Amino acid sequence: MRVLGIESSCDETGAAIVQDGRYLLSNVVASQVEIHNRYGGVVPEVASRQQLASILPVIETALEQAHCSLDEIDAIAATYGPGLAGSLLVGLTAGKALALARNLPFLGVNHLEAHIYANWLRKGATLPVPAPEKTAVTTNWAPIDGDPTFPLICLVISGAHSELVLVRGHGDYALLGHTRDDAAGEAFDKVARILGLGYPGGPAIQQAAQDAETELQQQQKSVAFARSAYRLPRAWLRGTYDFSFSGLKTAMLHLAEGASTPQPLSRTAEKAGGVGKQVSQYTRMGAQAAQRGSPNVGFLAASFQEAVVDVLAVKTRLAAQEYHVKQVVLAGGVAANLSLRLRLEQELLPLRIRLSYPPIEFCTDNAAMIASAAFFHLRQGESSGFDLDVHPGLSLPFGKK
Ligand code: KG4
Ligand code: ZN
Repeated sequence: MRVLGIESSCDETGAAIVQDGRYLLSNVVASQVEIHNRYGGVVPEVASRQQLASILPVIETALEQAHCSLDEIDAIAATYGPGLAGSLLVGLTAGKALALARNLPFLGVNHLEAHIYANWLRKGATLPVPAPEKTAVTTNWAPIDGDPTFPLICLVISGAHSELVLVRGHGDYALLGHTRDDAAGEAFDKVARILGLGYPGGPAIQQAAQDAETELQQQQKSVAFARSAYRLPRAWLRGTYDFSFSGLKTAMLHLAEGASTPQPLSRTAEKAGGVGKQVSQYTRMGAQAAQRGSPNVGFLAASFQEAVVDVLAVKTRLAAQEYHVKQVVLAGGVAANLSLRLRLEQELLPLRIRLSYPPIEFCTDNAAMIASAAFFHLRQGESSGFDLDVHPGLSLPFGKK
């Protein structure tokens, strides 16, 4: 079954053609990063206008690159939430209109669920795919070699979500924990802005940390020095699988302020109204950094990344142990983070728990994951009506634990 997937939930316009939920025929993403970089984050009104300009060329390019016409497509799927209402509307409307015009089945896809299904996609190595054929919708969707195996723990970490989820089967989700304030990606983005590293923050922080670590290695020093250069708080929220990153973000703000002003200790302590000890502690470290020269942005980035990775990795490992799963998968933009992947591997390997994550280009927003998720629903005979509307606040369809 060939599905044309469409993604437009935020600042990326995507169209992809995927066969049988796994094999990629094409995957086109038009990014608006350059435009939003100027503002340090996504401007919703600008994003939806750009979506409108990109959507048709992106769909046409996806068809061209897959060397297939709409006649060879079996179904069309588009994200209907969560995301920015104006952006979602563009892709969803385009998908519904095409399906209606071509008399094809249509399915609205949950963007978060699609991030999970990015783990079913295989990289280009699996091409060429079987010859084009018009397959009927059947219920035969048995797992094949290389698919993730249920039950599994999925850590969904994107720009707006951080959730630890038990996945017992296709569509069978139980929420184990979620963020109580900022999402992991949001923390990366906000801290990158604080450090002047630009948007999107995740890749920028990862790069700054990596540069600092490489420099240390060249001086025959341990990378651990960069990762522990600043003592940063971790919100363990013990006894829960919840996350919290806002305290860490605030600590980074104080550090950065402290490191960039000549007499940071008194000024920041005064501004904090004597909340005192914790704030001045961070600020003193910042002051020391300032005395050594310019604030060490690379060390700040490495220490921040380490604090986020620490909590994400340990909590995920604990969940995997408690629920006796044999597989953990990562999903969402932050799953592209190399430190996180490495650290989780170290946590899970001794326990013989398999870790998998999508190739980097399928971690951040793309339409291939939309087509993949759609396949597994369409196979069950599901479809959406043309009255389906956008759902900006949509969450995963959680059942009982
Ligand atoms: O899934 P995604 O592309 O969009 C949403 O659905 O939100 O995730 C975007 C988020 C951004 O916050 C971005 O900074 C983060 O993923 N991100 C990363 C990395 N690449 C992207 N965070 C950490 N390390 C990365 N390498
Ligand atoms: Zn996303």
